[in-house]
Amino acid sequence: SHQVGLAAIAEAKGLHAQRVTWVHHWTADLFSFRIERPQSFRFASGEFIMIGLPGADGRPVMRAYSIASPAWEDHLEFFSVKVAHGALTSRLQHLEVGDLVLLGRKPTGTLVVDALEPGERLIMVGTGTGLAPFLSVLRDPETHERFEHIVVSHTVRQKEELAYREFLEDEIRTDEIFGELLRDRFTYYPTVTRGEFHRQGRITDRIRDGLFRQDLNLTTDARQTSRFMICGSIAFNKEMVEILTGWGLTEGTQSNPGQFVVERAFVG
Ligand code: A2P
Repeated sequence: SHQVGLAAIAEAKGLHAQRVTWVHHWTADLFSFRIERPQSFRFASGEFIMIGLPGADGRPVMRAYSIASPAWEDHLEFFSVKVAHGALTSRLQHLEVGDLVLLGRKPTGTLVVDALEPGERLIMVGTGTGLAPFLSVLRDPETHERFEHIVVSHTVRQKEELAYREFLEDEIRTDEIFGELLRDRFTYYPTVTRGEFHRQGRITDRIRDGLFRQDLNLTTDARQTSRFMICGSIAFNKEMVEILTGWGLTEGTQSNPGQFVVERAFVG
């Protein structure tokens, strides 16, 4: 059967074969899914991993996915676009609970708190599925030890694409572990660029126009005490890096921490 084939391919290629435990469709073009986390699988919040399915020729078709779940959960969660003719997402979108997927063995990535110098606040700015790694970082206790304030900004075209909105607006505030921790310390900052919403416009424009700073009650001095994680399209990342370097901030790495880190949202 298909599943036996997948397990054999995983074995041959040194990949994990993991069972799907949950699937949620946000819109016609966006969905999330969870798989069981192998006991041996460890990652740093904000990292990505290869996910895939066997192709028609039996070879794995793998794509990078940011892990959206916190490192302490016993599942791994992913947030994906559905690309009609995408080699992988055209098939992944049909996943059902109980199906198997291929999972890589080596998580990696730049959006990790270790690549940032200490600061007062962590501002995570993403577009589309670029939100995913921030959902992991936000629920890592380490993040809360290092930063007094945490901001998650999510820009999408239409408000229906604000996946995880209920979670970020309400659920996390009443969460057993994070509710207390995040009270008065966490700001969710959604913006919509092509539809009705209470906050409109590209986040890059809102930052340049000073609206973002005003909404958060920050002075321009806060630039020097803020640390940034950026994740979205190539064009978006480029604009954000221009803004941040224009303020005199520098990109960090694990071996040489700085004031911001950047990664492109992968699939799509
Ligand atoms: P816009 O609607 O003005 O293009 P996409 O779906 O194309 O990946 O875009 C996701 C969100 O990111 C959209 O709201 C889009 O705004 C925004 N966006 C795209 N490119 C940029 C950019 N260069 N700077 C800021 N925001 C961008």
